[in-house]
Amino acid sequence: MKKGLFITFEGPDGCGKTTQMNLLAEYLKNSGKEVLLTREPGGKGLGEKVREILLNYEGPVSDRCESFLFLADRAQNIDIIVNPAVEEGKIVLCDRHIDSTVAYQGYGRGLNIQRINMLNDIATNGKKPDLTFVFDIDVETSMKRVGKDKDRLESAGIEFHNRVRNGYLELAKQEPQRIKVLDASKTIDEIHNNVINIIEKTING
Ligand code: TYD
Repeated sequence: MKKGLFITFEGPDGCGKTTQMNLLAEYLKNSGKEVLLTREPGGKGLGEKVREILLNYEGPVSDRCESFLFLADRAQNIDIIVNPAVEEGKIVLCDRHIDSTVAYQGYGRGLNIQRINMLNDIATNGKKPDLTFVFDIDVETSMKRVGKDKDRLESAGIEFHNRVRNGYLELAKQEPQRIKVLDASKTIDEIHNNVINIIEKTING
């Protein structure tokens, strides 16, 4: 059977990527495709427990510990959820993946990016997504969307989130074939249409 596709959704907090992922899932299902949704951190099972620690733990968390928790969750997501589904020919849509760690722990927290790439490579066994969307938005707008009820990472401050945004844009420059940047300040419908245009090209070549 022809193998499926692995597509990731990335961007700063509050960029609207989850909404777009769900809309794309509906679109693909309506065109007869088999779709599986997952997310990092926290696909299902063990991943949900790691997510709970990452987002809500109230004691001190070292930057390297934070990175390893994201990476542990990633290895689990890839091995248990993503790879088996892609092998079965499904289109797997994943909310955040390797580029989040480069953007947040690398550009955001200032950890060594070469090392993060190496660790990402171990966590994924070298597999990269077939396609990645980055939903780009300025920090002021995204923080307004997130609102007052912020989790541990959302509370990291404007400077941090600016570095995250710039990190994503830098990554997209380095891998323009895989990473497509979309303007997330447009309306939901406009962005959805942009997503579909890119997906159709990827599916139909
Ligand atoms: P989540 O509630 O899923 O945020 P969003 O809906 O914006 O995706 O929380 C995930 C948080 O974890 C988000 O702030 C980004 C952060 N994160 C990292 O810092 N590094 C990573 O490798 C991943 C996967 C997420």
